[in-house]
Amino acid sequence: MTNAYSGRKATGTCDLLITHVHIATMDPSINAHSENTAGSYGEISDGAVVIDQGVIQWVGSAESIPSALQPKEVINGHGQWLMPGLIDCHTHLIYAGDRSTEFEQRLEGKSYSDIAKQGGGIMSTVNATRRCSLDHLIDQSRPRLEALLREGVTTLEIKSGYGLNLETELKILRAARELEQQYPVRIEKTFLGAHTLPPEFSGQADAYIKHVCEEMLPVIAEEGLATAVDVFCENIAFNVSQTEKVFQCAKSLGLHVKLHAEQLSDSQGTQLATAYEALSVDHLEYLSEEGVKALENSTTVATLLPGAFYFLKESQLPPVEKLRASGIPMALATDLNPGTSPFTSLRLMMNMACTLFGLTPSEALAGVTRQSARALGLHHQVGMIKTGYQADLTLWPIQSPASLAASLTGERPSLTFYQGKVRSSSAY
Ligand code: NIG
Ligand code: FE
Repeated sequence: MTNAYSGRKATGTCDLLITHVHIATMDPSINAHSENTAGSYGEISDGAVVIDQGVIQWVGSAESIPSALQPKEVINGHGQWLMPGLIDCHTHLIYAGDRSTEFEQRLEGKSYSDIAKQGGGIMSTVNATRRCSLDHLIDQSRPRLEALLREGVTTLEIKSGYGLNLETELKILRAARELEQQYPVRIEKTFLGAHTLPPEFSGQADAYIKHVCEEMLPVIAEEGLATAVDVFCENIAFNVSQTEKVFQCAKSLGLHVKLHAEQLSDSQGTQLATAYEALSVDHLEYLSEEGVKALENSTTVATLLPGAFYFLKESQLPPVEKLRASGIPMALATDLNPGTSPFTSLRLMMNMACTLFGLTPSEALAGVTRQSARALGLHHQVGMIKTGYQADLTLWPIQSPASLAASLTGERPSLTFYQGKVRSSSAY
């Protein structure tokens, strides 16, 4: 059992003391050599957390809570499990329209690529999103965000990419900003103007990339509407040299880059992305040995998206064993979108990552906490229960932290804290 941990302010007044909780800190420096081979949850049994001004000030065992501490509020967790708030590092949450008929077409044997080449797929959602007003777009996206919040998500990423013209890309990112102002959640915004080629630029992919770099990105950056830039690098979207142009432009504007890479084929986007210090490369079913090597020598996170793998009935598995053996951080996300992953549950993704990809439940939990924080460049602030980190926490009425991946029987967090404040669960 772990004993005391150092804290910034373990004495005096504080806003909140949470006590008598088992803690999955997800901090790899805690209990790293535990004999419990079932997991590296960085667990503290019968623990306590001290919070002040939205920040974790102290983490340790309940028996060593500093006696002089004067908390304004005390919450007794009665043996429930306290975990970091969940982090969904890859979503396309804001869109209009519906793609259920494409699901039917795919069940009848048409491929995702065929549907895209015939003007459906991403373009179908682009057409609906272009027609939709800002207010209606926000209202249609709200239930998807609320579903994530109900499950304990405290940070998520939202991409644009269903506009493909400046006006609609701005509308999507402004909708994301508006939602962040309306809900107690942190939203990282990513510009995905290079998602697919819009019909106005048919046969002129290079000209569209020039348009993205010269007409769209500077405006997005100027308005502070995105912290990162993503590209769909694939044979039905953009090639490596077009991707590189977008990355160069993004970097010159001080934005992070990330990539939809090796989803349907090995385009070697991962090697390019690591050269540009991408935050993450996402999907990776067709990742090659060279791609794994490139990741091994980089700071880039491998983000796995089992929802899209499952929904597209993909049979090529991402090389999880090689990623693990090379010590590459693996994040997990919903990829929430209407075409390839219409799912609003990170816990379902955890379950799929274990059953379909062979992750352990503790890797899956790290994938939606510590590693997804890293995939957003927020790993010094969120994703672990650790002194100095944001007090974004979830309290679960479960017996073991493996439950989050193992069992989808309807438990929700009994409490979610965002920046140290209890988030009302009845509101959503
Ligand atoms: O992550 N791969 C590209 N983008 C999305 C799919 C978007 C769509 O089909 O609408 C994805 O799978
Ligand atoms: Fe995606």
